[in-house]
Formats: sequence, C-alpha cells, structure tokens
Amino acid sequence: MAGRLGVVGAGLMGAGIAQVAAQAGWDVTVRDLDEGSLTRGRDAIRGSLDRFVAKGAISAQDAEAAMDRIRTSTELEALADADIVVEAVFEKLDVKLEVFRALDKICKDTAVLATNTSAIPVTQIAVATGRPEAVVGTHFFSPVPMMKLCELVRGYKTSDETLATAKAFAEGVGKTTITVNRDVAGFVTTRLISALVVEAVKLVESGVVSPEDLDVACKLGFGHPMGPLATTDLTGVDVLLHATRNIYDDTADEKFFPPELLQRMVAAGDLGRKTGRGFYRY
Ligand SMILES: NC(=O)c1ccc[n+]([C@@H]2O[C@H](COP(=O)([O-])OP(=O)(O)OC[C@H]3O[C@@H](n4cnc5c(N)ncnc54)[C@H](O)[C@@H]3O)[C@@H](O)[C@H]2O)c1
Repeated sequence: MAGRLGVVGAGLMGAGIAQVAAQAGWDVTVRDLDEGSLTRGRDAIRGSLDRFVAKGAISAQDAEAAMDRIRTSTELEALADADIVVEAVFEKLDVKLEVFRALDKICKDTAVLATNTSAIPVTQIAVATGRPEAVVGTHFFSPVPMMKLCELVRGYKTSDETLATAKAFAEGVGKTTITVNRDVAGFVTTRLISALVVEAVKLVESGVVSPEDLDVACKLGFGHPMGPLATTDLTGVDVLLHATRNIYDDTADEKFFPPELLQRMVAAGDLGRKTGRGFYRY
C-alpha cells in the first residue's frame, strides 16, 4: 500500500513520519506554518537518511529517492489530494481542532484523517470535522525511523474501514501496531508508563529505594532497556506530570494521582535532561 500522504507539522514527529512513509514509497507533502520550520524538517530527514546510509542500512540511491518523494508547503491546500493525512502539530487541543476543521474542508471525501496525539482523546479532535468516522489516532513513537510501535486509537465514531486503512498504512511503513479499542485518557502506552513512574516515584519519595536502584531493578529484573526514572528524565519530568495529571483528571483513579515529589521537582525546575537535573544530574 502506498499513495499520497499529507503530514501537518514538520517537527520531530512530522518529519519522522514523512521520512518512513517516503522510504516506503508514499508521495508525501508536509505542511508547516513557515519556511523555516519546513527547512528544519527537511534537514532532519536528510540527516536521518544520511545516518542510515552511513550505517549501510539503506543505499544512497534509496535515500535520494525518499527525499525526492517529499514536498513541502506552507499551504494546507497542498494536502487536498492526500489519501491519508497525519496531523503532528503541537499537543494543544485548540491547535488540533483548527487543523482538523480546515482539513475537513479541503480533503477529499475518502481521505483518512489521522492524529499523532499522545494523549488527547481522538473523539475530542474528531468533532471538529463533519466526518468523525474517518478520524483515527496513529500514535508513532520517537524517533519514528527507529521505534517500531504505532499505537492505533479508535475514537468513539471511528469506522472499521478507517482503522483498517490506518493499520495498513502504519504496517506498510514498517511499524508493528497495537489497537486501542476506546480512546481512554493516555491510551495504553501512556497509561502503562504513568502507572509505573507514579509507583516508582512513590517508592523513591518514601525512602524505600534510591532512583539508581529502582532503575536497576527494572533493567535487570524486567529486561527494560532503560529504567522508568531515567526515561522520565529523558522525556521531561513536566511532561510525565502533565500526562499523569490528565489521566487522573479523567479517571479519578488514585493510582494516577501525581506524587508530591513529582510536583515539587517540576515547581523547582528540575525537569530532567533538558534542565541538567531531574532524578539524575547531567
Ligand atoms: N515528541 C515526542 O516524543 C512525541 C511522541 C509521540 C507523539 N507525539 C505527539 O506528536 C505531536 C507533534 O509533536 P512533536 O514533538 O513533533 O512537536 P514539535 O514541536 O517538534 O513540532 C510541531 C510542529 O507543528 C507545527 N505547527 C503548529 N501548528 C501548525 C499548524 N496549524 N499547521 C502546520 N504546522 C503547525 C510547528 O511549527 C512545529 O514545527 C504532538 O501531538 C505530540 O504530543 C510526540
């Protein structure tokens, strides 16, 4: 399966999705708000393809062919003939609603409209369109060219056909999919990591174990490539706090109530690697 793909947003995720699709033979058009963002997106794709070539994972000709299949535009209308559009703009509901409202107007009737949101319920995004049955979540992971998972999320009105198209697309670009049958807060992956991190933080804050030993337990005991606290430092302590708070707000399930330590770390500005300090110092 290959055809015409539209990508909205040329950031970290949009560029990655455009890249894997172009490598799989899709004609890709990426839209961002300004030329600077589009140039950064193209440069990121070029850099990633060059690294694959340097490792001998793909040929220089294939990398060139993939680049040639990617067009960029600041006009959303450039996506009008796309078979599938994947939205990867900022994780803000109002921004996504505006994008989907506009996509609904310009995309062809048969197009599938996908969102790469990590946590916003697909149903909430789909209401911006007159075709909620055609809206689906395709939650890719970062870095997209390396990470094998795509979490497919069914909104309240997503049709079987839309889900099947999204699955064929994600598998066609080399991903293994899981299907989330209801768009609960945090879907499946954010629920799991939030539950693990919340419990990990509780164990650390109550003095049961050090952050180092907790991460060692998960690595050597469960075979995780990285411990949950080191992962949180990488993702951003604030990002994790925001995720668990959202899940708690939606479910009132106390296991997702953000522990005090997590809240204080964010208040103090210890957000992980990006600020030089989180559960570890960098
Ligand atoms: N970063 C991650 O690890 C990750 C992982 C999974 C999912 N996600 C989700 O993917 C989405 C994108 O995240 P990201 O990390 O790529 O963000 P990013 O900030 O790197 O990129 C977002 C891009 O969207 C552009 N943009 C904003 N409004 C736009 C509009 N109306 N039209 C076109 N472009 C617009 C911005 O200019 C920017 O280039 C978010 O919903 C995020 O939650 C991110």
